[in-house]
Amino acid sequence: MLSVVVLISGSGSNLRALLEAANNPLNGIRILAVGADNPADGLAHAELFGIPTFVVAPQSFSSREVWGEVLLENIQHFEPDLVVLAGFMKILPASFVAALSPNLINTHPSLLPAFPGAHAVRDAIAAGAKTTGVTIHIVDEGVDTGPHIAQSVVAVSPEDDELTLHERIKSVERNLLVQTVIDIAAKKINLSAIER
Ligand code: GRF
Repeated sequence: MLSVVVLISGSGSNLRALLEAANNPLNGIRILAVGADNPADGLAHAELFGIPTFVVAPQSFSSREVWGEVLLENIQHFEPDLVVLAGFMKILPASFVAALSPNLINTHPSLLPAFPGAHAVRDAIAAGAKTTGVTIHIVDEGVDTGPHIAQSVVAVSPEDDELTLHERIKSVERNLLVQTVIDIAAKKINLSAIER
């Protein structure tokens, strides 16, 4: 059984998909806890599934480094095998990344290295991209720069705005994220063997 802590910032639809997958024992995943950097709406999914939650807000701390240390303590209390950033919109301090790497993964709504950062979907539309997608990657010290684990392509339609395209990406993203975590649990993906 792969034990997982998930971090979110927003609505938590990717979290919800992971919680549903963890309900099937055949998937070999156990969600131990869900953390957030704000009182995010998505925490309600965890509460519905009876999973403990914690909020560690950066503005409560004197520096990003101290915030990262407290966030790390909250996570390590649960002793997870894997930490999943599922729409977690804060950049983590290098010491946090080093403490968890390579067992720290992120999902990003573009085909990295194209369109890193917080506005990947808007940027893809603005650039006139014909295709975009999803990347699941190991987190390193950079912004969306870590080694790729899995990608899925999504076509951009001329009628798309940021909302419609992001919703279509997210329906692909949920499946890719869940499948990736299941494959890590089944040892079909070995994070330590992915080149960094
Ligand atoms: C996802 O597309 C994630 O990749 C991005 O923000 C979105 C979060 O969606 N960074 P949700 O909160 O899981 O619904």
